[in-house]
Amino acid sequence: MDPLQMAHTGPRKKRARPMGASMATTPQDIKFQDLVLFILEKKMGTSRRAFLMELARRKGFRVENELSDSVTHIVAENNSGSDVLEWLQVQKIKASSQLELLDVSWLIECMGAGKPVEMTGKHQLVVRGDYSASSNPSPQKTPPPAVKKISQYACQRRTTLNNHNNIFTDAFEILAENCEFRENEGSYVVFMRAASVLKSLPFTIISMKDTQGIPCLEDKAKCVIEDIIEDGESSEVKAVLNDERYKSFKLFTSVFGVGLKTSEKWFRMGFRSLSKIRTDKTLKFTEMQEAGFLYYEDLVSCVTKAEADAVSVLVKEAVWAFLPDAFVTMTGGFRRGKKVGHDVDFLITSQGSTEEEQQQLLHKVLNLWKKEGLLLYSDLIESTFEKLKLPSRKVDALDHFQKCFLILKLHHQRIDNSKSSQLQGKTWKAIRVDLVMCPYECHAFALLGWTGSRQFERDIRHYASHERKMILDNHALYDKTKRIFLKAGSEEEIFAHLGLDYIEPWERNA
Ligand code: CTP
Ligand code: MN
Ligand code: MN
Repeated sequence: MDPLQMAHTGPRKKRARPMGASMATTPQDIKFQDLVLFILEKKMGTSRRAFLMELARRKGFRVENELSDSVTHIVAENNSGSDVLEWLQVQKIKASSQLELLDVSWLIECMGAGKPVEMTGKHQLVVRGDYSASSNPSPQKTPPPAVKKISQYACQRRTTLNNHNNIFTDAFEILAENCEFRENEGSYVVFMRAASVLKSLPFTIISMKDTQGIPCLEDKAKCVIEDIIEDGESSEVKAVLNDERYKSFKLFTSVFGVGLKTSEKWFRMGFRSLSKIRTDKTLKFTEMQEAGFLYYEDLVSCVTKAEADAVSVLVKEAVWAFLPDAFVTMTGGFRRGKKVGHDVDFLITSQGSTEEEQQQLLHKVLNLWKKEGLLLYSDLIESTFEKLKLPSRKVDALDHFQKCFLILKLHHQRIDNSKSSQLQGKTWKAIRVDLVMCPYECHAFALLGWTGSRQFERDIRHYASHERKMILDNHALYDKTKRIFLKAGSEEEIFAHLGLDYIEPWERNA
């Protein structure tokens, strides 16, 4: 038995108990082996601490008298995360990176439940954001105990689709989009980064105090949060939603093939509705825009997961008809677990085939679909990839793989739950599909690059260059210090090269 624990609970307890079960702290009484608690006395007081320790031990928790390496959870009362860190620093105690800093409310809930309850944001103590997230801290600064702190980089945060801060992130995304329409890149990035960091929070922001310690929140973003907390809405967002330019650009860019340039032109010409544009005799449309108008209703209605799966079968059938050993992976939003998307993205690669066979594959697939009457639109772009070229330094740079942007005809009968299909006369839906063909050596980089989200990609590239002196793009990872390309056969290896914990695809919804 641990003598420390004996000293604490032992002498006072005189009740006879069977051997070995005399105290709640004997190893066999510990029900929850994975947690090792330490309760901070500071601001809590000796007697309350003793009471809570005893109670927790009786419930089967392992509670340490002293802080040691084995402690996984520090419980504190009336302390912020920063207070606890400061205390640890004063004590010259190094905390492990897995350490959880929790408010006493978590322990009390656990006591009520008789087992560890889920740790949510309301329990987790917030650490003020002036500690460097970099894992190679500069030698001048005293490195703080490595506790979980929100990183400024999305590639160091786990962002699932379970967004607790929709009310704020929706607002930021509207403001960001408006900046994009006005080609205000700076503010666009500010709002996108703010949206991204809030999506990763395990709790809902309910007061400005909750924003303490959260990085990537510039004043502009904080003002919006404050507005929403105080009034339930942001006046800035309201103004944008009523803005002529925003409304028009939003409408125009909803057409496949219409970007900022075309929108600007139509807006300046005085157009405000699509019907006027569609029927205007003087306007010239690209082939892409023609298709965009032709299949407009189908394309603006989102692609469901069931539809994406049906497309996946279609793609695999066609690809495997020509290259049976090819790997076909659904990427983009659906790989991140999204239930709907604006298109379906696929990465194709093959190990055993010749370069010629690989180059021909997409052509053959498109020809097959053309014959079958399934190809409603296609734009094939040949590869401009050069093996020895350094990765691109631009975080938003497009890749050089052979790829095609398509609109496919998906027959309702190919989807399992196709009940709605009979109601309308049309038996198919037009679906946007992106196919990317990459050399086998690059497939891990291409997969990482095409899985997104965009913000995640931007941040992992920034992280590579700012924190690691490496250049990452969809093709390769280059170490500038060692002047070598770092090879990887899986996404896990790329994260490892970058010194990052692996983030699963469904945690990349930044
Ligand atoms: N991408 C890319 N190069 C392109 C287009 C896209 O590298 N020319 C990457 C982007 O990083 C993006 C991912 O591929 O994260 C998927 O792109 P996209 O289909 O536009 O976005 P999704 O995340 O799939 O979202 P949605 O559901 O709207 O399709
Ligand atoms: Mn997509
Ligand atoms: Mn896409």
